[in-house]
This record gives sequence, structure tokens and C-alpha cells, in this order.
Amino acid sequence: MGYGTRVAIIGAGSVGATIAFALLLQKITSEIVLVDIDKEIVRGQILDLSDANFISSTQIHYGTYQEAGQCDIIVITAGAKQRPSETRVELIERNYKILENVIGAMQPINSGSILLLVANPVDILTYIAQKLSGLPKKQVFGSGTFLDSARFRLKISSLIGVAENAVHGYVLGEHGDSQFIAWSSAQVGGKPLLEFSELENVDKDALAKEISGKAYEIIKLKGATYFGIAGCVSSLVQCIILNQRLVRPLSTFIEEYGCVLSMPVVLGKNGIERMIDVHLDSNEKIKLQQSAAALKEICDKYIK
Ligand code: LAC
Repeated sequence: MGYGTRVAIIGAGSVGATIAFALLLQKITSEIVLVDIDKEIVRGQILDLSDANFISSTQIHYGTYQEAGQCDIIVITAGAKQRPSETRVELIERNYKILENVIGAMQPINSGSILLLVANPVDILTYIAQKLSGLPKKQVFGSGTFLDSARFRLKISSLIGVAENAVHGYVLGEHGDSQFIAWSSAQVGGKPLLEFSELENVDKDALAKEISGKAYEIIKLKGATYFGIAGCVSSLVQCIILNQRLVRPLSTFIEEYGCVLSMPVVLGKNGIERMIDVHLDSNEKIKLQQSAAALKEICDKYIK
């Protein structure tokens, strides 16, 4: 990897274009290939993004699905977005078909390519992409609960008055309604989060609902979310390109459950290097199993 890494973004809507803009600002890649079935939207996004080219020398251009299939990192955002109060899982029928077409159009995908799924329901689409792409599972993963965890850390940082990156804690399971906060392993400065007096009178269930419901709130107010997810995805792309081997909660196949869920993994230049089996208390283990069961039920129903 390195500055010469070629990044393809499939889907030139708000999420895809904002990811492209975030990558342009980060100056970590020399070339971005933007792909969409709607060539007009691609042309418009590229013309608009080109006006920011004075910021970085990243070349952003239109590409075909075949071209995208040869890129080093392929970010897949193509799909219908949630309507107000629509769940992510309700997108599965439409977005399964779109993903099937996208992967089919990219074949044969370069054997070293990394597929980063973003479209929702991201855990299930990651599972499907692993099956359809034929790439090793470590090279096919999703943004998962990285964004939910960022929302959690942001909330905690304001409650106890520390920088967000000083809060170490995860939202795990489904990037969706069955997600849960892994309170037992969360900590700041080596001190367990639950021992902070600032959290004594905080309703943990209400806080979890606030985090899992934030996307619905944003969608109700402005129609879609894209800045948060674009920030997450561009940082994941950077982590791969620079081989930073950061630990992030990403959608990855969990053998024990036979489905894709978000767990902490080490991310480097070749994709997922290993999963960290973070400590979960008995209640959290039950929630993870419930999340897995909810996702498996959908996979069994839709994926033949
Ligand atoms: C959200 C979308 C990315 O949570 O699912 O904002």
C-alpha cells in the first residue's frame, strides 16, 4: 500500500462523495475511482470535487466497475438509504440485489483487493460480499459499529470531561437495533468506565437507546447521515494504506456464530489481521448471541 494505493468508491451519492472528499482532505491516496450506475451523478460529483483539488493532488475520476475491481481498496456504499424510521434491515431486499450486481460487474476482482462494505444492512451485506466475491474473509469486512462506538465515545467524553480518543469502549454486535454497549470493558485512563462517579446516575439503557437511535434522529432532521460514516471510512482506508494496525469494531465473520457481527479487530495493509476477543460479562454475551441470532435469521431467510 502507500500513497500510490488506488481506492475505488462504488456509489456516488452523499456517503460515497463525502468519503471521497474526506480522503482528498487526508491526502493519503493518489487516485480515487468513483463509480455509479448513474453516470450523471458521478460526473457532477467529480466536477464538484475537482474544485477542491487545490487542497490535495489526489486524482478523482470516473471509472467502470471492471476498473474498480482492480483497485487496491474498494469501498461499497451503493444502495438505498434508510427512509425516516425505516430500519437498516428493511433495506436488505433492495440492497442485496444492488450488491449482487456490483460484485458481478467487478469480477474478476483482483485477488489482493480489500472490500470495505458501508451500505446497509452492513453486517448482512458483508456476509453476502464474502460469499459472492470469493476473496479471503479477512479482505472483506464492513464499517460495522465503528460509527456507533464513535457516537458512544463522544457521549461519554462529554459526560466525564475527557477527549473522545481517551475513551476506550465499544458498541458491538449489529450495526443496527440489536447492538449493545460493552460497558464491562470500557475504560478511561485504565479506570473502568462504570467506576466514574459521573456515570452513577446515568440511565445506561437510555444512553444505549440514544446511541443506537442517533442515525434515526439525523435522518428525520436532514434526510440522511454521511459525515460521521465518511469520517469513519476514510480513517479505515488510512489505517489500511499506512498499515497502522489499529483496533476497530468492524463487521467480520464470527465462526462461533456463523454470521457477520462487529467485534474488535486489528486492521492493517492486508485487511483484518486478527480479532480481539474482548472481555464480555454474562449479560453482554447474551446480547451478542441475541444480535447474532437476529442477523442469522435474516441471512437464512434471504441468502440461499
Ligand atoms: C448511520 C448509518 C451509516 O448509522 O447506518 O449513520
